[in-house]
Amino acid sequence: MRAAPAVLSWTLICATGWMALAAADTPMPTPPRGKGEQCVEATDVMRRDHMRFLTHQRDETMHRGIRTQKHSLVECLECHTRKDTQGQFLPVNAEGEFCDVCHDYSGVTMDCFECHATTPRQPKPASARSSAELGSDISFRLRITP
Ligand code: HEC
Ligand code: HEC
Ligand code: HEC
Repeated sequence: MRAAPAVLSWTLICATGWMALAAADTPMPTPPRGKGEQCVEATDVMRRDHMRFLTHQRDETMHRGIRTQKHSLVECLECHTRKDTQGQFLPVNAEGEFCDVCHDYSGVTMDCFECHATTPRQPKPASARSSAELGSDISFRLRITP
């Protein structure tokens, strides 16, 4: 029985050693940095809670008709999309782009971009704008025209 504590501490040492090694070896996702000085909330808060902000924002918009800019999906695109060498916006969920990097790493799948635009709003010629767009100043842009 007297050997037990020794065995236990060995196990602990090994376990911590392994954990340290694993941490050093594991590549962490490094999404491209957003534009500007800071995000809509502190970075560590965003890292942890962005999905909650987005769904909270959606619930407020859909169920209570409240539209604020702060946690709007459209706002995210303004700061988190990059352009290719031709100056065209890359979709925010394209491989290696902001929303993809961590999600790919963590195996997260989401359907949001089946409906929501993946690039920021850009000025379009009047002829290319739908009547819905012209008729209301909607604060987001959907990919599909209802
Ligand atoms: C089937 C299509 C569809 C899917 C999938 C979808 N949405 Fe939406 N979403 C909408 C529509 C339509 C609105 C517009 C509601 C309004 O403004 O009246 C909306 C509004 C929103 C809004 C509020 C407006 C804005 O741009 O901030 C947020 C935030 C949002 N959705 C987030 C999400 C997130 C996050 C997901 C994925 C988890 C998602 N949506 C998936 C159709 C969709
Ligand atoms: C005004 C520009 C701006 C807007 C709008 C914005 N972000 Fe950010 N975001 C940033 C910047 C800049 C950083 C990096 C800050 C840092 O490194 O300290 C960041 C960091 C993040 C991070 C953490 C990334 C990491 O490296 O860990 C997440 C997640 C994030 N943003 C999601 C969002 C979402 C979701 C939205 C929309 C609700 C949004 N951001 C809107 C500028 C913005
Ligand atoms: C710093 C890494 C990181 C970045 C950058 C990031 N995400 Fe996430 N996201 C995660 C992680 C990790 C989860 C899973 C969290 C969980 O399951 O608790 C997640 C989950 C989500 C979910 C919930 C999915 C579901 O249905 O479970 C949504 C919605 C989401 N992210 C939206 C976005 C959008 C939009 C962007 C780009 C503007 C983005 N995220 C960028 C790390 C990130």
